[in-house]
Amino acid sequence: MSYLRLDMKKINNHTLGWLLFSTVSLSPSLSAEPLTDAEARGKKVYLTGNSASGKSINVTIGADSITLPGTSLPCIGCHGEDGKGRPEGGIVPTDITYPYLTLAYGHSHDNGRKHRAFSDTSIITAIKRGLDPDGNKLDAAMPRYALSNNDAADLIAYLKRLANDVDPGVTDTTLRIGTLLPIHGPLAEIGLAMKAVLQAYFDEVNAQGGIYHRKIQLEVAEFTGEAESTMHNVRRLFENDPVFAMISPFAGNLEQDILALSESQGIPQIGPYTLFPETSSSKSQSAFYLLPGLANEARAMVDYALDALHLKRIKPMVISPENGNLKQVVEAIEQHSLARGLGAVSKLTYMQQQYPAQTMAVQLQQQDPELIFFFGSHAEFELLLKSAEGLKTKPTIFISAALTDGASSQVFKDKILMSRPAASGNPATANAFFRLIQQHNLSSQHLSTQALAYSAATLLVEGLQRTGRELSRKKLIKNLETLYQVDSGLMPSLSFGPNRHIGSTAVEIIVVPNDAGTSAK
Ligand code: HEC
Repeated sequence: MSYLRLDMKKINNHTLGWLLFSTVSLSPSLSAEPLTDAEARGKKVYLTGNSASGKSINVTIGADSITLPGTSLPCIGCHGEDGKGRPEGGIVPTDITYPYLTLAYGHSHDNGRKHRAFSDTSIITAIKRGLDPDGNKLDAAMPRYALSNNDAADLIAYLKRLANDVDPGVTDTTLRIGTLLPIHGPLAEIGLAMKAVLQAYFDEVNAQGGIYHRKIQLEVAEFTGEAESTMHNVRRLFENDPVFAMISPFAGNLEQDILALSESQGIPQIGPYTLFPETSSSKSQSAFYLLPGLANEARAMVDYALDALHLKRIKPMVISPENGNLKQVVEAIEQHSLARGLGAVSKLTYMQQQYPAQTMAVQLQQQDPELIFFFGSHAEFELLLKSAEGLKTKPTIFISAALTDGASSQVFKDKILMSRPAASGNPATANAFFRLIQQHNLSSQHLSTQALAYSAATLLVEGLQRTGRELSRKKLIKNLETLYQVDSGLMPSLSFGPNRHIGSTAVEIIVVPNDAGTSAK
């Protein structure tokens, strides 16, 4: 049952300092997509309806020739990102990719309109005056744009490019998907276990023909644990030799930097490996998180204290190492406790990996809390139990499975409660995961982490399948946002939407059994 837990506790014991807790500031250098200047200006007109010169483009539309700013009617709105057209409300904006417009034998449209092949000049006439190469009037739904000569030339340059302006990482036969994992050092085992699952899963997808005839190629960049070299590796995947999307990247303390970089390029990230999705998801258009994260777990602890333990107006206390990410978790507890009437929370913090056992014992004696929320590492949790042993009334202690295993303690019998992402019920889908592990002879040392990578990969594949052969990052993101109650069998069912980039916020709380962590006698 516990395979859902993140392996963070294992990580914590070794490397907590740099992994979760330091902040590294980097200024990303971005390389633009390789469009020529004219193409790039034309793309601007196409996407925004704004001239690159800064002047606005006037547009007239409809039988009454209403005039509007171009920004209210960019081409992309009707002809789509790929120029292939989006039928809407009975109106069919036509395919305006250059090869199609210039087909030697011209077009004969469904509405009966026929004309010879477009040339650059006649395309401009269509856009400015609404006439096709044979002088037929285009439907009034196609606006007329008062393009300057420069805008017209730029737009033509871009239309020529449009059909091939596919996102990086996609060819007719391949789809490059990247990940970032530790593959040397103390975290290598976890990284390699994740990599093996991803590879095995994609191998199976490929063996069945791939996704719309494209084979998935997994590209692994190394998370070295050191900022500069890791960011160098990330840039390779984002810029030099780009991937289409990222799958369960393990970004450690570089999470925010990597997110900023992927956001600026619109690279989807599916299932980033993190305990703090809330910090990031609000800033992100393109990252999709699977699990609730520590802040949601913290709120669930507060709810549990009220609703299951019936505690009210008490003296709760949060004990945590000093840390930027955890600050938000502590705030979540404070706010939620106040809002729900649990009581005002007092806070004790300590330097990372320097739990001050004696001072804590004194503080605990003085403050005599009835409830403790604890967010330190596993080793620190054992120290906490020692420093709280002397208290007359034993407080209830909440911990997260992501950080500690929980410890066996006669003194705190039934008083230690643990939060974790709620498990889902569907054994069929979970079986698919376990079959994959078995069939490919994968190690089962890190099942929880492997389950995360696997779930992220199934989510990606589902999103790709919904998107179809005409693939773009934007389309993938849109389609991921339509996923509703997807059941991977390994975690709660996941739902996403335009304003929802955390798949599940369901948390369960369990009483840590008294023999947890002890080996059989
Ligand atoms: C409000 C929706 C809308 C917008 C915005 C729009 N179009 Fe159109 N466009 C149409 C429709 C509908 C047609 C088909 C008209 C018809 O069949 O008579 C069309 C037709 C065309 C044609 C002629 C294709 C053919 O085969 O005859 C071209 C070229 C074209 N659009 C280019 C553009 C460009 C470039 C922009 C942006 C500057 C743009 N359109 C913006 C709706 C739109």
